[in-house]
Amino acid sequence: MEIPGEMSSDPHTVLRVTRTKAQAKESYDRMSPFYDYFAGIFERNYRNRALKRLNIAAGETVLEVGFGTGHCLKQMAEAVGEGGKVYGIDLSSGMLAASKRRLEKAGLWNRVELTCDDAMKMPYTDNKFDAVFSSFALELFDSPEIPKVLAEIRRVLRTSGRVGIISMSKEDGASLLLKLYEWLHRKLPQYVDCRPIYVEHSMKGAGFGIQYKERVSLLGLPGDIVIGTKLSSSVSVTT
Ligand SMILES: C[S@@+](CC[C@H](N)C(=O)[O-])C[C@H]1O[C@@H](n2cnc3c(N)ncnc32)[C@H](O)[C@@H]1O
Repeated sequence: MEIPGEMSSDPHTVLRVTRTKAQAKESYDRMSPFYDYFAGIFERNYRNRALKRLNIAAGETVLEVGFGTGHCLKQMAEAVGEGGKVYGIDLSSGMLAASKRRLEKAGLWNRVELTCDDAMKMPYTDNKFDAVFSSFALELFDSPEIPKVLAEIRRVLRTSGRVGIISMSKEDGASLLLKLYEWLHRKLPQYVDCRPIYVEHSMKGAGFGIQYKERVSLLGLPGDIVIGTKLSSSVSVTT
C-alpha cells in the first residue's frame, strides 16, 4: 500500500506516520525506564525556554499533552503552586509511572492528575484550562490527526487561554540535514519517530492567534517554539 506523501519528492510534504498507536504505546512503554539516559538532553534547554514563555502563574489549571517522564510536569506543578492544578495525558503507561515517581519524589503528586490515553480525545470538559503545553509530541500525530488534536486542545482551553508547543519544524524543508533525518525516519520509524511539521501554520488553522515564535536548532535540525492564544471565533475541523 502506498502511503500518500511518503514517496513524494516534494521537500515541503510532511511525512505520514506509518506505525499504529498500539506500536507507539509499546515503544514508549519499553523506552520509559531508560528514556532520560538517551533522549531529551539536547532538547531540555529549549523545552524549558518554551515553558518559561508560557508564563504559568500560581493558581492556574494547566495541561501537558505527551508528558514523557514528567520533567515539565514538575516545573508546571511548582509554577501553579498549592492553589493550582496540573493535568497530563500520555499514551504510555510506562511514561505515566516514570512521571508519578518523579512527582512523588518532589512532593508534588497531590497537585497533579495524569491520564493514560490518546490525546486525540481528551477526558476534560470544555474551557477547563488556562494553558496547555506540549513538547515534542505534536509531530508524532499523523498529518490528518494534527488539526484534530489541536482542535481538542482548543476545546479544553478557555477563551484567551495560552498554548505552548515545541516541535521539529518543516519550515526549512529543503536542507540536506533535514532530508537525511527524514530518510532515517522513513527507514526506522520505530526509533526515529518524530518528524518535522508546520507548527505555526497548523496552530493558526486550528484557531489560535500566534503571540510568539522562535526558531531553534536541535543539533542542526530546525525546531519551532510557538506560543498562541485561543481566539474566540469558532473554527470548524472536519472529524
Ligand atoms: C518524544 S516524547 C516527548 C516527551 C516529553 N514531552 C519531552 O519533551 O521529553 C513523546 C511523548 O508523547 C507521548 N505520545 C505519543 N503519542 C501520543 C498520543 N497519541 N497521545 C498522547 N501522548 C502521546 C509518548 O508516549 C511520549 O511520552
